[in-house]
Amino acid sequence: MIILGLNAYHADSSAAIFKDGVLIAATEEERFRRIKHWAGFPSQAIEFCLKEAGATIDQVDYITIGRDPRAKLGKKILFLLKDPLGGIKTVRQRLANRQQIASLEQEFEKHFGIPAQVVKPKIRNIEHHRSHMASAFFASPFEEAAILSIDGAGDFTTTMIGVGKGSKMEVLDSVDFPVSCGTFYTAFTQFLGFPHYGDEYKVMGLAPYGQPKYVDEVRQVLRFKDNGLFDWDADYFKSAREVVVTYGDDHIPVVGNLFTARFHQLFGEPRSKNEELTQAHKDLAASVQRVTEELLIHILTHLQKRTGLKKVCIAGGVAQNSVANGKFIGTTGFTELYIPSAGHDAGLSMGSALYQYHQVLNSPRNAPVYSAYTGSKFSNDEIEAFLKKKAISYTRLEDDVLYDTVVDKLIEPGVVGWFSGRAEFGPRALGARSILGDPRNPKAKDLLNLKIKRRESFRPFAPSILKEYVGEYFEKVEDVPFMEKVFPIKKDKQALIPAVTHVDGTGRLQTVHKEISPRYYGLINKFRERTGVPILLNTSFNENEPIVNTPAEALDCFLRTQMDMLVLENCVIVR
Ligand SMILES: [Fe+2]
Repeated sequence: MIILGLNAYHADSSAAIFKDGVLIAATEEERFRRIKHWAGFPSQAIEFCLKEAGATIDQVDYITIGRDPRAKLGKKILFLLKDPLGGIKTVRQRLANRQQIASLEQEFEKHFGIPAQVVKPKIRNIEHHRSHMASAFFASPFEEAAILSIDGAGDFTTTMIGVGKGSKMEVLDSVDFPVSCGTFYTAFTQFLGFPHYGDEYKVMGLAPYGQPKYVDEVRQVLRFKDNGLFDWDADYFKSAREVVVTYGDDHIPVVGNLFTARFHQLFGEPRSKNEELTQAHKDLAASVQRVTEELLIHILTHLQKRTGLKKVCIAGGVAQNSVANGKFIGTTGFTELYIPSAGHDAGLSMGSALYQYHQVLNSPRNAPVYSAYTGSKFSNDEIEAFLKKKAISYTRLEDDVLYDTVVDKLIEPGVVGWFSGRAEFGPRALGARSILGDPRNPKAKDLLNLKIKRRESFRPFAPSILKEYVGEYFEKVEDVPFMEKVFPIKKDKQALIPAVTHVDGTGRLQTVHKEISPRYYGLINKFRERTGVPILLNTSFNENEPIVNTPAEALDCFLRTQMDMLVLENCVIVR
């Protein structure tokens, strides 16, 4: 049984392929197209997945897409009738998208030469939030769990809660478009001068520099309901009448302007993109983050009481709020939490396929997914052939010598590009396509920003820590395989690892498992042997572009930045 899952015509378009319910490959299309959040038909991701599975489209049993235009159709029509003018615009934009989706089989014909009539019977539309929920629950280690999907919007829903048991999930309740936690956060993201799709993490990074002085004002915008869900004051948001995210011919998602004049009355003038960040901006970011955390804790606390379950799975764009995620255990009644590596819309490919396999076909569960390494891989021989062709001098070293060489460079202090094994699925670099630094170096952050990243100085860098040492360095001990949670760093350790300690004394950690990331584990362990610190600074291997996918892209990034060393599998290139 082969299932090919897709997220198509949607931001972070992607493909994932399963054989008998086992994940064989998953990747975002942006990694091939080299355009962040690329939203279109993921032909290259599909080609990659088929190749990895050794299958052709003919052999694929089902093609699932994490979107169902028929979902909540009655509610959609009612909503549009309420506002005929705004509705017409919305309908036009939606129809454009639906026409694209209706022609999915034609896209397969165009790209793969398979007749549409062969592909069409294989296609299954799986509703957006059910796909999110499936991406978390069916990949989780839990036999039974509560489930929350929460994002901007998808298939006229913005939040969905449910329970999963074995091969089945049941939806308990949902919040209809446009009332949305994701849109709420995005509106403030825009207001604070970060206009691009996916900029929300900048507000999250900025929040610790401020005090939550405006929580009363921010709370006026939202209303927490007694049923454990929420409402908002529609006067503050334009999205009540317009589609939030649109895509042009370039397939780059664009977020429409979300806040209204009423928003200005309460919060003043918005910040323009290049304007200096004032303390008031930082305080507003802190307030928005605080209220978002309160809302999520409100939803989860009710969900826990309602289900009586102790385990919970979360997915959707809001599940990328790693600061909030780090606070759920101990505040909501839940004691265990699973969030997939691609909790955002790229995960719809994986989720829709898992939904079809378990929920629809009633197939038994498989081993949980703890590895995000499902993308491109290149052998040492391929890399050597490439470097020789490019006339780049390099040294090929065995792992043990290699680890020592890299650690020498990090201690110098230097910045190292680390390209190892299969690329990650999801937004975080987890030691397969990472840039590494010495976490003890107080200047590492400035060094990285100067040499490579040139990004906003307020954004933190993350620690990858050997799993066994989490309790020594962090206030909480939980598994964080996908860098999906932020925890306080112990006070007495903060000065030891300043480069990965954020201004509020926290770190967005990745717990590194020996079985899942043997080479990355080996490298960090070597750093521990030499320095006593079981941690490396880890940031994504890119420079204002999607994370590098191939040795050529890694070399290109190395050459155009001031990175000190590049490691491509076992081949080392020094500047
Ligand atoms: Fe979503």
